[in-house]
Amino acid sequence: MNTVKTVRELRAAVARARGEGKRIAFVPTMGNLHSGHIALIAKASQRADFVVASIFVNPLQFGAGEDLDKYPRTLTADQEKLLQGGCHLLFAPTVEEMYPDGMAGQTRVSVPQLSEGLCGASRPGHFEGVATVVSKLFNMVQPDLAIFGQKDFQQLAVIRALVHDLNMPVQIIGEPTVRAADGLALSSRNGFLSEEQRATAPVVYRALNAIAEAIKQGDRDFPALVSGQLQKLEAAGLRPDYLEIRHALSLRPATAEDRDLVILVAAFLGTTRLIDNLHLNLDAPA
Ligand code: PAF
Repeated sequence: MNTVKTVRELRAAVARARGEGKRIAFVPTMGNLHSGHIALIAKASQRADFVVASIFVNPLQFGAGEDLDKYPRTLTADQEKLLQGGCHLLFAPTVEEMYPDGMAGQTRVSVPQLSEGLCGASRPGHFEGVATVVSKLFNMVQPDLAIFGQKDFQQLAVIRALVHDLNMPVQIIGEPTVRAADGLALSSRNGFLSEEQRATAPVVYRALNAIAEAIKQGDRDFPALVSGQLQKLEAAGLRPDYLEIRHALSLRPATAEDRDLVILVAAFLGTTRLIDNLHLNLDAPA
């Protein structure tokens, strides 16, 4: 696996692969890779001949007071994992390479509506930062397909919308969340948890499951279901940011008649913000 740091080298390497008739898959990441990321690489290898990953901790998607500075940077370990996972090319640019003229005047991509509410409410500008960097990365790599984790459900919806609205010729694939044995969704931010907090964290997934089970049993009192689980999260010592039941495609608040639902949660455990979701399609075969 080759690691390149400039757009010029990236374009040359991808052009070589294209010249050999290869289909290109792309997995954008912020590094500190775990088995969730490696599952995305494995999927990419199944679907394409040449797998490109990127590692870039994008300052544009972090707000003031968020964890940009302490976000873990583990390039050497990440390179080893990508190599083992079957990645062919890693693009690991500097901030200057991605934003050579600085960020203040950088053209932005924003996806209204889908970016509002949920994580967008407590992280203003976050999805604009994501949509902008993903658009730039797509233009740099020009992949046939790109793979994202479903753990960032709202992010995936925003990216699908931007590709559709801007007519980008990239197929977007969402991959299921990879979980620890106790149900906690794998995340680079789990590394910030103390041993005690790590033992508490699976309560987040249990809350999602409790709501999903109740809905499957026919309960449609969404406000009561949500407030019951919010209390459980608070009792476990978490500070919930949101817990909501939405329509899975539009992300608008769900109604009792909706069949394709997603339950989404964000909650602080100490200073670490955990997010998770559970997609519940009542029409899907059991
Ligand atoms: O999900 C992430 O790791 C990031 O938001 C992404 C998509 C790589 C954009 O920086």
